[in-house]
Amino acid sequence: MIKRLWALLGKSSKKPSNPKVFEKVPEHVAIIMDGNGRWAKTRGLPRTAGHHSGMKAVKRITMAADKLGIKYLTLYAFSTENWTRPKDEVDFLMKLPQQFIEIELDELIANNVQVRMMGHKEKLPAHTISPLEEAIVKTANNTGLVLNFALNYGSRKEMLEAVKDIASDVSRGELAIDEIDEKLMASRLHTSGMPDPDLLIRTSGELRLSNFMMWQLAYSELWFTDVYWPAFTEEHFHEAIHEYQRRVRRYGGL
Ligand code: IPE
Ligand code: IPE
Ligand code: MG
Repeated sequence: MIKRLWALLGKSSKKPSNPKVFEKVPEHVAIIMDGNGRWAKTRGLPRTAGHHSGMKAVKRITMAADKLGIKYLTLYAFSTENWTRPKDEVDFLMKLPQQFIEIELDELIANNVQVRMMGHKEKLPAHTISPLEEAIVKTANNTGLVLNFALNYGSRKEMLEAVKDIASDVSRGELAIDEIDEKLMASRLHTSGMPDPDLLIRTSGELRLSNFMMWQLAYSELWFTDVYWPAFTEEHFHEAIHEYQRRVRRYGGL
């Protein structure tokens, strides 16, 4: 732990006034990895080059999160709305999980990382989902960082499915209406068993949620940067963590 804190101090350009803030490492960080296309465009490259480079940022930030002792890292990789993009781009994006797993799985295992996935599996092609499922099985007993990919994920769809699921339990007489509370709802979401994100990061300057974790982010701290995802470094990540550590979370209290 002390080593991690020093590593963080060493890499940071700004030292926080209160060293105690290093005790507040967020348990769960969620990231809307945005700006791949614009990153590529500014370099005169095709959008797919941005996605390829974005994959390297995934590796970089996963390792950075692991070093800091963050327990859960949820990455928004593909939304339920992203299917509306041109077929070539969707096809390219659907190949990335396999590439990522092929290149990185050994190192993820060596670092005790546990891979998970949330989202709607039914629409994903086999070449996208199978390698991920294999990685999930191979890393299921790892006890380090949980690397949770949101793939074909949409918060409204997630909540609708949870509501239908609950309604069908009620209609079968297995659940009483009075038993429906926040805890039950949370247990029917894809994040069941995980704590809510403490910190949400969105890159690329967009200030919106784009259908991401709308239940779970109710009390998360939000941090935005203009930096495009492929250009997002460990230093940028530390900047976000430092800012989080300076925030006072009141949860409606005083
Ligand atoms: C994020 O980058 C990756 C996905 C949404 C899959 P974008 O592809 O949205 O890049 P911009 O926002 O168009 O620059
Ligand atoms: C959100 O980014 C989805 C992911 C990062 C996977 P988008 O680029 O799809 O979001 P909008 O369209 O700008 O809201
Ligand atoms: Mg975008």
